[in-house]
Amino acid sequence: MAGNWKMYKTPAETTAFFEKFRPLVEKSTHCEIVICPPFTNIAAAVAAAKGSTIQIGGQNIAWAREGAFTGEISGAMLTAVGASHAIVGHSERRQYFGETDETVLKRTVAALDAGLTPIVCVGERLEERESGGTEAVLVSQFTKGIAGLTGQQFAKIVIAYEPVWAIGTGKTATPEIAADAHRVIREQVKAKFGKEAADAVRILYGGSVKPDNVKSLMAQPEIDGSLVGGASLDAGSFASIVNF
Ligand code: 13P
Repeated sequence: MAGNWKMYKTPAETTAFFEKFRPLVEKSTHCEIVICPPFTNIAAAVAAAKGSTIQIGGQNIAWAREGAFTGEISGAMLTAVGASHAIVGHSERRQYFGETDETVLKRTVAALDAGLTPIVCVGERLEERESGGTEAVLVSQFTKGIAGLTGQQFAKIVIAYEPVWAIGTGKTATPEIAADAHRVIREQVKAKFGKEAADAVRILYGGSVKPDNVKSLMAQPEIDGSLVGGASLDAGSFASIVNF
């Protein structure tokens, strides 16, 4: 269960979140818990999570190890401050910052090279769903992005299916819609990396996951976890989601 804080919270607010959140998930051993705050709060989050099982991730990662890349943060920088994960290819990065399947693949490889677990995001936009193009979009994102990994690399990634029309809109995909999309992705994985890889890969659902809908989403065997935006900003609500 992963929280994506997007561009919210200061370091002080991060510390305050963990003070409330930690006791609420102290006994939650049924899943991994990851929180991805803005880069500026990672050190505070790592310090506040110390001694717990909560893991911390970045929301993006540079494809280069270092260099003249203004505004970018490398994998080595993330691991140096104690991060273990990195979100890659979030739809907001694709939509507003020119991220493509090609750059998503490069960033994914950089995360793996740095020893980080990439959470690789895919998902269709509203007009693509309405025109019946969902499957084609998922196949294309997979083929141009994730399929470029080796089998060994693939075994270390987490996939997040986030239909763009469900992000921040309050419109959750129904559990059935989400499960259908997860099946499409898993079939792609099976065709490219084999059955074992398809059975083992974790596919998270993201898009308006809330305490009151998480249970029905997680009841789908296809859905292995959630990537939560807005509802992960509040300690009580994210804890309810973790403890669904
Ligand atoms: P919301 O949960 O706010 O819809 O955001 C989902 C998301 O984009 C997580 O990465």
